[in-house]
Amino acid sequence: MSKPARQSAPATTRNRQPILDVMRRAFPKEGLVLEIASGTGEHAAFFSASFPELVWQPSDASAGALASIEAWRDEGSANLRTPIALDVRDDSWPVTEAQVVVNINMIHISPWEACCGLMRGAGQALGPGGLLLTYGPYRLGGRHTAPSNESFDASLRERDPEWGVRDLDAVVTEAEQHGLALREKVAMPANNFTLLFVKV
Ligand SMILES: C[S@@+](CC[C@H](N)C(=O)[O-])C[C@H]1O[C@@H](n2cnc3c(N)ncnc32)[C@H](O)[C@@H]1O
Repeated sequence: MSKPARQSAPATTRNRQPILDVMRRAFPKEGLVLEIASGTGEHAAFFSASFPELVWQPSDASAGALASIEAWRDEGSANLRTPIALDVRDDSWPVTEAQVVVNINMIHISPWEACCGLMRGAGQALGPGGLLLTYGPYRLGGRHTAPSNESFDASLRERDPEWGVRDLDAVVTEAEQHGLALREKVAMPANNFTLLFVKV
């Protein structure tokens, strides 16, 4: 029987396989993966089991998310660490060194400062050649890539005026300020993209 804290988000089971396909060809053979904004923890359980040779460190800013991630650890393998509290906007992160930083579906569901914090913290935690993987919807050249993304954007901004689907160029410019260069932009199902940044 599920523990009460264990939450579930249907999108994770839809997007995890296409994201895993990118991870499989891009990730290093060993090292620490710091997942930012792990949410329910379903991704952490699935991805950690998919990469037993990597150490998977989940995190989130929300106490409720941390409880859910901890509950999902039953499904994860031994390489899935206890989740830690991490708000990307904090000047110093509790993890100071990682080979990969993963961030799925946060940049548009948080204020722009969260994207800035993500890039600053990832730029500090990653060494040369280290990877930052982000996933979510983006506008390209200021335009939405599909009508469904446009209405999704409107619904996000209605929930919180500081949220919204970001322009890819703005995200890339912010990343570059912290030594992170866009290496790949991979089109995903449902008008999303996986972005791979490399620390130069
Ligand atoms: C839509 S959920 C995505 C969760 C998970 N990555 C997924 O794909 O199912 C967005 C998550 O971002 C987290 N978040 C929002 N602002 C944050 C911040 N400043 N620092 C860290 N996490 C944050 C929220 O707590 C939430 O768990």
